[in-house]
Amino acid sequence: NTSALLYIVGSYLIGAIPFGLLLSRGSGIDIRSAGSKNIGATNVARLLGKKTGALTLGCDILKGFLPMWIITLLVQGQSGYEVILGSCGAALVSGHMFSVYLRFKGGKGVATALGIFLYLAPVAVLGCITVFACCVALSGFVSLGSLLGSLSMLLWLALLKAPGWKLWLAAFIVLMIWLKHWQNIGRLFSGTEKSWRKRDEP
Ligand code: G3P
Repeated sequence: NTSALLYIVGSYLIGAIPFGLLLSRGSGIDIRSAGSKNIGATNVARLLGKKTGALTLGCDILKGFLPMWIITLLVQGQSGYEVILGSCGAALVSGHMFSVYLRFKGGKGVATALGIFLYLAPVAVLGCITVFACCVALSGFVSLGSLLGSLSMLLWLALLKAPGWKLWLAAFIVLMIWLKHWQNIGRLFSGTEKSWRKRDEP
């Protein structure tokens, strides 16, 4: 059905907005060629400071949260609405990771996924944030927190007996997040990953 397709394409186009890049525009630093070269909040904070990093995090979270909320209001009750919502969630994260505005390059999807699940399963997100915070506090690596925090989403959803479509969506997103972190995983194993405590000089 046409409106479902519209919501999915719309989700992709919204997910593709590179807030980290937009917010760092005036700084003279291209975040795609400095630090970890990622467009996400961690790299923005690393290169431009905590304030711009937090702003990027907030925008990327809202980019996941608001569309899920609005589309739910539009489709709830329709037959197969779970499939539409699941597809929109997948499209939002895919947009962020493979942005049409950046020649299909993009970020790692953690903040956008956070926004999506903040709407779909806020209690499970609390569990993820706890895992994330413990990992980052103990290791100093945001990437390790993202990897294990996102993976724990599957556990929380299962424990909370969430509907199957939310588990499928989470499984897809976790897989994509892990694939997008492959360089971080390599650095974690080789001992060359950057701690968040040490900010790069621009
Ligand atoms: O969410 C991204 C984070 O896990 C890693 O970011 O910039 O250290 O690769 P970065």
